Amino acid sequence: MSANMVALAYLVASVFFILALKGLSSPESARRGNLFGMVGMAIAVATTLTLTQNWLLILGCIAVGGIIGAIVAQRVQMTAMPELVAFMHSLVGLAAVFIAVAAVNNPVSFGLPEILPGGSKLELFLGTFIGAMTWSGSVIAFLKLSGRMSGTPIVFSGQHMLNLLLAIIMIGFGLWFFFSETTNWTAFIAMTAIAFILGFLIIIPIGGADMPVVISMLNSYSGWAAAGIGFSLGNPMLIIAGSLVGSSGAILSYIMCKAMNRPFLSVILGGFGSDGGSAAAADDGVQKTYRSGSAEDAAFLMGNADSVIIVPGYGLAVARAQHAVKELAEILHEKGVNVRFAIHPVAGRMPGHMNVLLAEAEIPYEQVLEMDEINSDFSNTDVVLVLGANDVVNPAANVPGSPIYGMPILDAHKARTVMVVKRSMAVGYAGLDNDLFYMDKTMMIFGDAKKVVEHMVKAL
Ligand code: TAP
Repeated sequence: MSANMVALAYLVASVFFILALKGLSSPESARRGNLFGMVGMAIAVATTLTLTQNWLLILGCIAVGGIIGAIVAQRVQMTAMPELVAFMHSLVGLAAVFIAVAAVNNPVSFGLPEILPGGSKLELFLGTFIGAMTWSGSVIAFLKLSGRMSGTPIVFSGQHMLNLLLAIIMIGFGLWFFFSETTNWTAFIAMTAIAFILGFLIIIPIGGADMPVVISMLNSYSGWAAAGIGFSLGNPMLIIAGSLVGSSGAILSYIMCKAMNRPFLSVILGGFGSDGGSAAAADDGVQKTYRSGSAEDAAFLMGNADSVIIVPGYGLAVARAQHAVKELAEILHEKGVNVRFAIHPVAGRMPGHMNVLLAEAEIPYEQVLEMDEINSDFSNTDVVLVLGANDVVNPAANVPGSPIYGMPILDAHKARTVMVVKRSMAVGYAGLDNDLFYMDKTMMIFGDAKKVVEHMVKAL
């Protein structure tokens, strides 16, 4: 393939990637967006194959990776998706490091001069350290999200100073690598090792409640690592795709930070979730009372209401209650009740988690409203049905000193009657008790979300 044809094919693939991102910005067009992404990637891979004689080896690797990916994707539970994403990011980071090591070891086979020029060294340095940090940071995110490691922030005094010091030393080794006339392996290995350690250190102080931002931040890092390597290899496709991933991840991180009222810069530097102390310390130990009722009681109240807002949370995903909820909403609608769904930006365990579940059950998009669109309506609403949600409706977010202080919440506590479906009085992801459950107007309905909703449907 001529150089012009390659450039043209990469350009076409890039357009498909941009269309994919555009499509993924709304649940209605997400399927189309995914399709665009797949077509773009197929064009990019096919074009790259024409640039190498090693295509048998590459096709073999794609087949092995593809088969493993297909098996994992088929087996993964919807609830385990975020940790799978974290795991994937770790692989992107590691791939960037491996490519950089190979290029430093044998520049000629990558089309680079035998003695690496300064520009290439800088690109390899950037790709390696961002890739290494992405790998170790994603491993910690994976361990925390999958429950293999506690979600409680790990903090110690002087943590930020240590991170800063390590970053300076790492850059020092990077400069040594850059200014050495021959390949300086000592500097390169030292720099990579410190980057791996920094990745761990930056993520361990981040608490469970802030993990969504970490995921999208690591997503962004993995994109920048790929872009850095793209520069080294002189591959425009890698540069464009990496930059798209890098910038879209950064924009998503920024949007999420805004939604959680967190300063963006401190996310990038790590440890922003730990201020205010550990979540476990939040239970004040005071014995509080709550009121509980049955699914039938709840059905009666909702059937006689004018308006109902359903707040889905992580428990809905665990119970796979989305189809039962759709049935419930339909019956209420037929009875003339105005039924709407309120989506918090970080409900569940990944961005868009609730939208995906409700879309899967084919709940009409016009009934599904984002937090900003619906929050002012809670005070005029008869009944709020909180289904397996906890942190996203916790009024502690309005209390200075609370670990989630400043995080915007759905104002469920402002409705006339609140009904909460969950299995116990256990805390949510942030590890905090929830005063909403103890309010006079709140009725707890204990049980698995799917079973409880099915009982409600029957009763109605
Ligand atoms: P959570 O605060 O985690 O609360 C979910 C509740 O669902 C739990 O209290 C649990 O109580 C209940 N539950 C679990 N299984 C259930 C089942 N089968 N049936 C009924 N209830 C069940 O969830 P949320 O309100 O959706 O908030 C999300 C939290 O996750 C936030 O803190 C957020 O920061 C964090 N997070 C979000 C993301 C993204 S991007 N969305 C990623 C990582 C972390 P019981 O055990 O008593 O049933």
